[in-house]
Amino acid sequence: MTDYPVDMSVKPEVEAFFDEATNTISYIVKDPTSDACAIIDSVMDIDYAAGRITYDHADAMIARITEMGAKLEWIIETHVHADHLSAAPYIQQKLGGKIGVGEKIMVVQETFGKVFNEGTEFQRDGSQFDALFKDGDTYQIGNMQGFAMYTPGHTPACMVHVIGNAAFAGDTLFMPDGGSARCDFPGGSASELYDSIMKVLSLPDETRLFMCHDYGPNGRAIEWETTVAEQKANNIHVGGDKTREDFIKFRTERDAQLAMPKLIIPSLQVNMRAGEVPTDSDGNPMLKVPVNGL
Ligand SMILES: [Fe+2]
Repeated sequence: MTDYPVDMSVKPEVEAFFDEATNTISYIVKDPTSDACAIIDSVMDIDYAAGRITYDHADAMIARITEMGAKLEWIIETHVHADHLSAAPYIQQKLGGKIGVGEKIMVVQETFGKVFNEGTEFQRDGSQFDALFKDGDTYQIGNMQGFAMYTPGHTPACMVHVIGNAAFAGDTLFMPDGGSARCDFPGGSASELYDSIMKVLSLPDETRLFMCHDYGPNGRAIEWETTVAEQKANNIHVGGDKTREDFIKFRTERDAQLAMPKLIIPSLQVNMRAGEVPTDSDGNPMLKVPVNGL
């Protein structure tokens, strides 16, 4: 425990906001000793068929922070999500705060800049974000500290954020009966994800783990909180006596059968821009569909 760069005895107040449309869980993480808070993985609502964007999910989080009288210091993305759109700029406009992501965002921007044939005006240097985290970087939320843990595998820019005794898993682990995130997007790797998951599971056993997604497997109600100890014992993909080889074989075979997430095309274009919707040459918000490009 002494190996970690922050005081993990601090117990942040964590509130979850579940998005039914994408099975994403967004979080408000509040410092218990000040009015400071952070948001992890916000969601912007989209009706993709209609090309319509709305902000009900983000508005609910904004209303809650306002009600608490809290000050939003960080809007953190665990990675460039492929299944939902980030509302980070909308929230920042209303409440302030710095938008942060892993520094390997540049790799993701390079890859998908090509896929979407973005012009030179699309910067591939992460400059759309206010902060780019390196492995082990620490940051302050009021009196409380968080640190970013580099956890590639699902994507090359994934990070788990550890804030006090709470870790926000992003797309590494799911709940114990849900297993793990897929690894077949460009730059993904089952072996890297296994190693990243082992890094997460080397956190103290009692660390609270908060999931980014839950799909309620086998009809159970949606859940999002577990612990390192529970995951080590019971995770169906990596827990108990499962080996690295078991995981890589299983994950690779499973991923080959998965369909693309419904919102991958709009999600990537928006999320690689820190949540900004791209615009056409007249400055109007506009999304592309690369035919047979993914
Ligand atoms: Fe993801």
